[in-house]
Amino acid sequence: MHDNAAPDNDLATLERDLLARMEAAADEASLEAVRVAALGKQGSISGLLKTLGTMTPDERKTKGPLINGLRDRVQTALAARKSTLADAALDARLKSETVDVTLPTRSSPETRGRIHPITQVIDELTAIFADMGFSVAEGPDIETDDLNFTKLNFPVGHPAREMHDTFFFNPKENGERMLLRTHTSPVQVRTMLAQKPPIRVICPGRTYRHDSDQTHTPMFHQVEGLVIDRQANLGHLKWILEEFCKAFFEVPDVKMRFRPSFFPFTEPSMEVDIQCSRKGGEIRFGEGEDWLEILGCGMVHPNVLKNCGLDPNEFQGFAWGMGIDRIAMLKYGMDDLRQFFEADVRWLQHYGFRPLDLPTLAGGLSS
Ligand code: DAH
Repeated sequence: MHDNAAPDNDLATLERDLLARMEAAADEASLEAVRVAALGKQGSISGLLKTLGTMTPDERKTKGPLINGLRDRVQTALAARKSTLADAALDARLKSETVDVTLPTRSSPETRGRIHPITQVIDELTAIFADMGFSVAEGPDIETDDLNFTKLNFPVGHPAREMHDTFFFNPKENGERMLLRTHTSPVQVRTMLAQKPPIRVICPGRTYRHDSDQTHTPMFHQVEGLVIDRQANLGHLKWILEEFCKAFFEVPDVKMRFRPSFFPFTEPSMEVDIQCSRKGGEIRFGEGEDWLEILGCGMVHPNVLKNCGLDPNEFQGFAWGMGIDRIAMLKYGMDDLRQFFEADVRWLQHYGFRPLDLPTLAGGLSS
């Protein structure tokens, strides 16, 4: 066929055939197949164009315009069909990919999830104490008898040990019994053993006692505070606790009452109440006639300093231990501590906090 130029009527047939195939092409890929069949390297029209070189000049004069004309028309038709198909494809896509802007948006995990009030309160009090220059110290929930009691000046057999309703583990082979820490005070000891004064730490964490009612759960939370240097005194402690309470309860003034008390690891020891009113079942701070106990505190006992390798003639300091669950209940008006740990999603939806609203002193603690 390359040697013999195609007769004119063959060209017409080829043209009709190609146009029909273009018309039949339903998408751009099938149209491309038609283009390759006609104008590709092995295509029918490319084949015809190659025959021009083998023709006599006279033949070329007549056939040349016919074949080139055919190629031009086929190219034009291909381009036209291509743009029609592209428009149709775009229309179809626009139809299938419509967005209904009236549909409700899907909520994201960070807007659906809730931060537990205890976590929130730990974040809040950490922000407040961090602002006063405290860092956070941690210790394990499973403690030794030595760190939970003995180093804190609870003599073996002392009745104060019994008051702690301790959960003990079975004795080890050497007779030592591990326990679930009954307070965060062993973290004081760990801190004094690990670093030299000046020390300014808070130790928030879980604590355990064999106890359960509306305001007690076997697992609860405390935050310990410890300041040790050469001059730390009760005046500093009082200021710190007052500033803390004002910031935490987000009120301009809080009245506090320091009552003498006893803890083996402090001397003197005190318990602190804050003034409040409880009218109509609602608790308000800085007013009223009621007092609410929120923490125990005192000057660290010289025996505890000695047990931790510090010379009581050189160093002194104060400590406190506060119930986190208690102040969370007070601040956020929850009346049953047991519900905190029942993992009821409805409770969490109601009392929980939005994950991205991080408590800061500048931005607001609970807003
Ligand atoms: N550990 C005490 C308790 O759980 C609370 C406490 C009292 C901690 C006085 C202290 C403190 O650091 O100085 O009852």
